[in-house]
Amino acid sequence: MSKSLAKTKIAVAGTGYVGLSLAMLLSQHNEVRAVDLIPEKIDKLNRFESPIRDSEIERFLAEAKEGLRRLCFTATLDMDTAYSDVDYAVIATPTNYDDATNSFDTSSVEAAITAVRKVNANAWVVIKSTIPVGYTEELKSKLGDRKIIFSPEFLREGKALWDNLHPSRIVVGAPRDDAEAMAAAKRFAALLAEGADSIERNRKNADGTTGIPELILGTTEAEAVKLFVNTYLALRVSYFNELDTYCEVKNLSTSDVIRGISLDPRVGNFYNNPSFGYGGYCLPKDSKQLLANYRGVPQDLIRAIVAANSTRKDYIAEQIEAMVVRLVYQGVNQPVVGVYRLTMKSGSDNFRSSSIQGVIKRLRNKGIPVEVYEPTLDEEEFLGCQVTHDFQSFKSRCDVIVANRWADELSDVAEKVYTRDLFKRD
Ligand SMILES: NC(=O)c1ccc[n+]([C@@H]2O[C@H](COP(=O)([O-])OP(=O)(O)OC[C@H]3O[C@@H](n4cnc5c(N)ncnc54)[C@H](O)[C@@H]3O)[C@@H](O)[C@H]2O)c1
Repeated sequence: MSKSLAKTKIAVAGTGYVGLSLAMLLSQHNEVRAVDLIPEKIDKLNRFESPIRDSEIERFLAEAKEGLRRLCFTATLDMDTAYSDVDYAVIATPTNYDDATNSFDTSSVEAAITAVRKVNANAWVVIKSTIPVGYTEELKSKLGDRKIIFSPEFLREGKALWDNLHPSRIVVGAPRDDAEAMAAAKRFAALLAEGADSIERNRKNADGTTGIPELILGTTEAEAVKLFVNTYLALRVSYFNELDTYCEVKNLSTSDVIRGISLDPRVGNFYNNPSFGYGGYCLPKDSKQLLANYRGVPQDLIRAIVAANSTRKDYIAEQIEAMVVRLVYQGVNQPVVGVYRLTMKSGSDNFRSSSIQGVIKRLRNKGIPVEVYEPTLDEEEFLGCQVTHDFQSFKSRCDVIVANRWADELSDVAEKVYTRDLFKRD
């Protein structure tokens, strides 16, 4: 891919949703090396194929392949070469929540920083992975390394590059008393803004400002922004889910109640569609991490946000069990529960930590046979359930079809479907 636009040299550790979308964004105007541990991902990228499903990333790579877009981008497993002479090393590796330690497992972030420092003492390390509040300052003093800053990432999976081309805001955290770190943070924010769509750079905001809001915050405040925004989103999902539980138990119309409250402009008619629970890679783990960060700080709500998701899945599984029991009373021998898609949203191919998985586990614990229809899953079995790819026989064989999100292809079996997708949208 072309090198003629190269300016700042940037390495990105991790080619997942965060790393790859940033690598694409930044490689429009800078020289970017994307690094991963997985050879198949690197091979795909070097063939201009995306290892993840994301229409904008796929478009960028396809256009670069055709010579229609200039991206200064390479993908490699060779960390020493990739990191040796870069100005910035962006860390976008996973931070899964570890229930044993009650904290994120940040070992991949530390491994990536160690690999950078092995060959490059001067690069500014920008952590884009989501980390516990206070992590960056602790790591800096542990490593005796002041050139580490943090920038929270706000993208959605499947729309990762689109969200970086159209960012709601850019936030970078650096210590206010370190002028060099503040300058590095501002320069990094400018690099992100430079890669954004020109419409966003010229947009008029409601508060009268122009362009993408850029916030340079203290490092720990920037870390808090990330966990608090995701925990707020988990709260909002849980709120409408518990509203739905109440309405179902009390035999009220949930959709009427939601419409009635959402017309209040302070509530708004969005992000209010009931589901089986909040899920995906980030909301469950980030809300647990925020709860862990609250140790010693008075709270009730944060614990409740974490607990509410479990209660909701218990309730959903009980509703499905009740349908199965009714079918048995009606004479159906061994009713089969079919799970339609493992994904959180329609159109997605990713089902990391999707809420339906918690429902499946609960149904299996109750001894209810479950079959899964998931066309993107190339396995025979999932969580001990048979996986089928034959949609027609799945529809005819299953007595109850459980769908976190409705799809029109279920219309002919609508009477068997159990969903709480009341507004038929994400
Ligand atoms: N997925 C999201 O929607 C999202 C949004 C905002 C923030 N985040 C945060 O960003 C981080 C990354 O998330 P993701 O969804 O992109 O993860 P991902 O699992 O999709 O990708 C991470 C990649 O990092 C690679 N990797 C692991 N260790 C490495 C190392 N030492 N060096 C180089 N590569 C390494 C993995 O092989 C993998 O390809 C997490 O902390 C996550 O919480 C994710």
